[in-house]
Amino acid sequence: MCGIVGYIGNKNAQDFLISGLKRLEYRGYDSAGIVTLAENGDATYLRAQGKITNLEEKLLKNKRSDMIGIGHTRWATHGEPSERNAHPHQINDLFLVHNGIIENYKELKETLNDYDFKSETDTEVLAALIDSFYKNGDYPLSNAVVQALKLVKGTYGIAVVSRKNPSEIVVARFGSPLVIGIGNNETLIASDASALVGHTKRAIYLNDGEVARVTNDSVEIKTLNAEPVSAKVEEIETNLAAIQKGGYEHFLLKEIMEQPQSLMETLRGRVNVEEGTVRLGGPGLSEDELRRIKHLVIVGCGTAYHAGLLASYYIEKFTPEITIETVIASEYRYKEAYIPENSVALIVSQSGETADTLACLREIKKQGIKTIGIVNAIGSTIAREVDGGTYVHVGPEISVASTKAFTSQVIAMVMFGLTIAQAKGVKKAILKPYVEEINKLPSEIEKVLNSVSGGIKKIADTYKEYEHAIYLGRDTSYPIAMEGALKLKEISYIDANAYAFGELKHGPLALIDDRFFEMAFLPKGVLYDKAISNVQEVLARNGHIVAITNNQEFDLQVENIIKIDTSLLIFAPLLMNLVSQLLAYYITTAKGYNVDQPRNLAKSVTVE
Ligand code: AGP
Repeated sequence: MCGIVGYIGNKNAQDFLISGLKRLEYRGYDSAGIVTLAENGDATYLRAQGKITNLEEKLLKNKRSDMIGIGHTRWATHGEPSERNAHPHQINDLFLVHNGIIENYKELKETLNDYDFKSETDTEVLAALIDSFYKNGDYPLSNAVVQALKLVKGTYGIAVVSRKNPSEIVVARFGSPLVIGIGNNETLIASDASALVGHTKRAIYLNDGEVARVTNDSVEIKTLNAEPVSAKVEEIETNLAAIQKGGYEHFLLKEIMEQPQSLMETLRGRVNVEEGTVRLGGPGLSEDELRRIKHLVIVGCGTAYHAGLLASYYIEKFTPEITIETVIASEYRYKEAYIPENSVALIVSQSGETADTLACLREIKKQGIKTIGIVNAIGSTIAREVDGGTYVHVGPEISVASTKAFTSQVIAMVMFGLTIAQAKGVKKAILKPYVEEINKLPSEIEKVLNSVSGGIKKIADTYKEYEHAIYLGRDTSYPIAMEGALKLKEISYIDANAYAFGELKHGPLALIDDRFFEMAFLPKGVLYDKAISNVQEVLARNGHIVAITNNQEFDLQVENIIKIDTSLLIFAPLLMNLVSQLLAYYITTAKGYNVDQPRNLAKSVTVE
């Protein structure tokens, strides 16, 4: 996802722009650029392909004390990663940065014949469109922006400055987040609040369809229909420490190891272990509405989808007579699926900005179905558009590979399921074990992380050489197998795929040979013996098996065993997932790859 920063105030704009872009680089990008304006309008305009360090090299010879500017990290959508396609884009006196996709940019480009386009981007067309209203002085900048945006179809988060008036920045959003930081005699702009941390704790989250004109000491917001909007100043929750690495070499390891604490934040004030109950205020559903729920639709992408699938297994076990469908957002959004009445949709998203998930949310709301967000990013688009929600409160998840968010998303949804079961009068004897295990989970996670890390680091050298891996599980370990395979493939680039144990004989067994290693998730329980017989099928074909189990008596002759020492039974699969997270991390570091920013991926996929 691209990143936007902007500054206007009494300090050096270049300093904030570069530091702000560095805060956002975790989201993935392939080029970057900034422009700052002197009081007389002289522009210092720098762009570079690749990492921000390339931009900094150019900056060394172009240091200015300008106090207004905008910057951007680009993740290419239209036009290859290059300097000429990097933002800001300049048209005459205007400079523009943009997140999102202008879907009708080709039609608009045809109306802008007197412009000579230098890039292949939709953004440059938007800049020219704004200029077409601005250049003759017919409109002040903010009005020119409004006139142009009225013609645009698609999504945008933009910031615009002009050499003619270097004392204002105009910003606008539709579908791509923009936050305005309120400082002392300075105003900061960012597409993600983490860029503002350490500069201000006061922020205004722009809403879709709003345009703001900001100066060093004012923020004036209106809609595209020129209706004034009163700015709601909110507190930025994130603290600086939270977005630094905290002494770890990579964000990913930090986020894996902080799961005891992050899960505790998810549980805070929501679990009453004495009573054996949970309480979620956010969904905003009455007891009667909860009691009437007959069907859940759980929507997400990637890890969020896996979290939803795992949660659905649990909820079905303790909540009778409700049906649950867990769907991949990018598939579901085009299905025009009928959702029965007495349904509730859980919209799962760490970033709260995933385009396909957001599109599903909007489609589902059209059917009048209650939508509940299971989101991490406070104030994100999904969090603002759902009818109710439960923030997972895991703090910023910086590494592209999602880890702590997954664990908390699962438990947050299980707690939502428990609130339904409680409302439906499900016996406490059925629910109490879930509540008790949830309450113990943070300390059990701590125990497991400390006991298995060393062993996993050791075996990582063995398995880093493989090109293929198979992850196997049954029941609640099947979504865990899926999540584990995703973790490995997305950062180590090993071709890892997950299968339900029972599916082996229907095809995947044919794959087993020395090119593959197998991860077998074997939690104690009613299906344990069946899973063991599946493992034996793989063993009979000389599979290279890593067994992950909480059965201390496990004694099959497999290549490696990771024993999880825990009293938990229900949520043992979540503890086994920690093994997958650590294995993916250590294999990737052993391969020398970029752990936090894997190739081709972004932290938040805000484009389709
Ligand atoms: C997970 O490790 C991936 N980075 C990716 O699958 C991610 O879970 C997916 O893009 C959904 O993101 P979201 O939770 O922010 O919506």
